[in-house]
Amino acid sequence: MSEDPAKFNAARAALDFIDDGMIVGLGTGSTSASFVRQLGERVRGGLRVKGVPTSEATRNLAEQVGVPLLEISQVTSIDVDVDGADEIDPQFRLIKGGGGALLREKIVAAASTRMVVIADSSKWVETLGAFALPVEVTRFGFALTQARIHEALRATGCAGDEVVLRVSGKANEPVITDGGNYILDADAKRIPNADELGEALKQIAGVVEHGLFLGLAQTVILGTPSSAEVKSR
Ligand code: A5P
Repeated sequence: MSEDPAKFNAARAALDFIDDGMIVGLGTGSTSASFVRQLGERVRGGLRVKGVPTSEATRNLAEQVGVPLLEISQVTSIDVDVDGADEIDPQFRLIKGGGGALLREKIVAAASTRMVVIADSSKWVETLGAFALPVEVTRFGFALTQARIHEALRATGCAGDEVVLRVSGKANEPVITDGGNYILDADAKRIPNADELGEALKQIAGVVEHGLFLGLAQTVILGTPSSAEVKSR
């Protein structure tokens, strides 16, 4: 498989955060997939780690490349979580969920001593919001939830307020997450008050989780075609 070199370099730099014996959160998306493949190579070379996957796609890949896995129910904490992002701001706040795995990703990130975010450098932004914010919602009453999310975007000063149901395939069927829910993509365009918006979304009945990851990432690795920059706080 041909690798995007910027994603590959970010993923490779994340291996420096992995020590023998660690429990490692395995993120979802193309950059995380590069990390899982490279981790598999290290495991074949003798590294002993156990992974906790954040999606069924990542579970399948980890099994293919030989990374031993633990179920989330078997762990009380995770040493390091390595995951991608759709946007990252200078406070290390993230938008995640472009791949629809935000719920499991957030549970794993929150259980981890360190979250290492890996991304190509295009994901670094001054202000979050150009990437539509994914919100996982129950299927029951989703149109009502959609209207409340629209109001929350307006109430917290976002530049955009369109909220659309994520669909896929020729038949435009709603995307169903690993947790059996829908995803609503909230096109905020610009999120001036991420903390306020995160709080407002959590208050809405029907919202299972939102893709704002606030205060979770300690390290961000930005890859370019030739190198990787590691930023920590
Ligand atoms: C998955 O739900 C997302 O949070 C991904 O981590 C995010 O979309 C980044 O994906 P890429 O690494 O494919 O850009």
